[in-house]
Amino acid sequence: MSMPTIQIGLLGLGNVGTGVLNILTHHADMLSQRTGKKLKVKSILVRDLAKYHHYKMPGVKLTSKPEDILEDPDIQIVVEAMGGENPAYGFIKQALTSGKFVVTANKEVVSKHKKEFFELAKQHKVDIYFEASVGGGIPLIRSLKVGYAANQIQSLYGILNGTTNYILTQIGDQGMEFDAAIKAAQKLGFAEADPTMDVSGLDTAYKLSILAAVAFKVDVQVSDFHYEGIESVTLKDIQLAKELGYAIKLLAIGYRMGSAGMVFRVHPTMIPLDQPLAAVRNEVNAVFFVGDSVGESMLSGKGAGGSPTGSAIVSDIVDIAFDTRVRVSQDGNGHRHVVLDGVESPHYENKRNLEDALSKVNLVNIEDTYSQFYLRVLVTDTTGALAKLASVLGDQEVSISKMIQRDMVGNCAEVVIVTHKIKESYMQQALSNVKALSCVKKVESVIRVGLEEV
Ligand code: NAP
Ligand code: HSE
Repeated sequence: MSMPTIQIGLLGLGNVGTGVLNILTHHADMLSQRTGKKLKVKSILVRDLAKYHHYKMPGVKLTSKPEDILEDPDIQIVVEAMGGENPAYGFIKQALTSGKFVVTANKEVVSKHKKEFFELAKQHKVDIYFEASVGGGIPLIRSLKVGYAANQIQSLYGILNGTTNYILTQIGDQGMEFDAAIKAAQKLGFAEADPTMDVSGLDTAYKLSILAAVAFKVDVQVSDFHYEGIESVTLKDIQLAKELGYAIKLLAIGYRMGSAGMVFRVHPTMIPLDQPLAAVRNEVNAVFFVGDSVGESMLSGKGAGGSPTGSAIVSDIVDIAFDTRVRVSQDGNGHRHVVLDGVESPHYENKRNLEDALSKVNLVNIEDTYSQFYLRVLVTDTTGALAKLASVLGDQEVSISKMIQRDMVGNCAEVVIVTHKIKESYMQQALSNVKALSCVKKVESVIRVGLEEV
């Protein structure tokens, strides 16, 4: 008996699309043996055909017309590796509506439209897979959905952006300039088409909202929580952090805060050097989490790059291939038919779909959360300046854990402070009072310290 073939349509042939194509080509035999099916890329969509004239892909059609894939009845799986909200959103909806499985690496579109995609997939008896959208090559989504299904996740801390982790590592290790580090990340294929999405923390925020759905089963958008990027982190802060026993990472944070609700946020964080996340370097991503059954766990691996991301996408294709004993079709009257192992079945239901599981949640505002803070402040070198600074902090109940006076910067003394844990709103009030002091020239840096719930 000849082996059945699953035809794949690939939307996009950039870093990720090329990674997918290479893996499917080089591991064709291994993957056929594993799934019992041939996994064949039939057509690939790009915007500018001329740019790809050097590609030699026998038996694969390169096209700039989306309908060549979305309206091709032979194509069962659409892999979206284009990026951006539009036209990806419309293409994914069209694919799901016409009974095609979808695999995507696009965190922006999944983050914004996940609920609608889950509903459409359920309605049309297919599914959308998005392993590559968070954590690159780490099988994070599948692990949280299935591998850790026996747990209620209590808290989660993730380094979810390869570009910013690469930049922070390169600045800290090599003293590389910020702009040069971004260019290097772009050259290595880690950065988004617009790298401000990485640097501003937005890419990490999209990923956190996806993990909120997968790990905590809650429906949140990035506009619901606070996020910041790494624009203001300097070489000096990275070096001082190391002296104090910390590494600075852009951290995605999610945890349950008792009956108050859930906390989600993204910002640079000083992580104690003995915490495993502190050792995660370059484009490597990691998620440290606490499950009520398993306890503390960490998953890590390459979080960006065409090949690691291609690995995650192909794992989704394999997962679908295991499941595509199911074939969905539509008759002339517009009725959908689901055939399971060759037998018509009205009952096919994919329980991996999160549509039924997602709920709204009460979100705790960042002002009502508690952290330690690192401050670097320039004060005039005058008698009583340090006492005034400590007193203004104390007025808002900010208590100092460490205070170091560093070298002179021009005619100012550089003061580094690490506070005890304090409510965010008190700290923000204290900071505006500090900035108003005549002896304070500038508050150079404010960075939150520690993993508050662990
Ligand atoms: P990329 O290198 O810029 O490639 C994008 C590809 O999509 C190009 O082939 C482009 O064709 C095509 N494309 C874009 N818009 C199109 C449109 N409107 N119509 C037809 N084709 C279109 O991007 P990438 O780095 O591969 O990233 C793709 C997706 O994967 C993004 O969602 C990204 O966030 C995600 N992702 C990337 C990584 C990574 O490490 N790079 C990791 C995980 C997830 P043209 O060249 O003709 O414009
Ligand atoms: N630009 C993203 C990053 C790609 O650097 O993490 C992986 O999602």
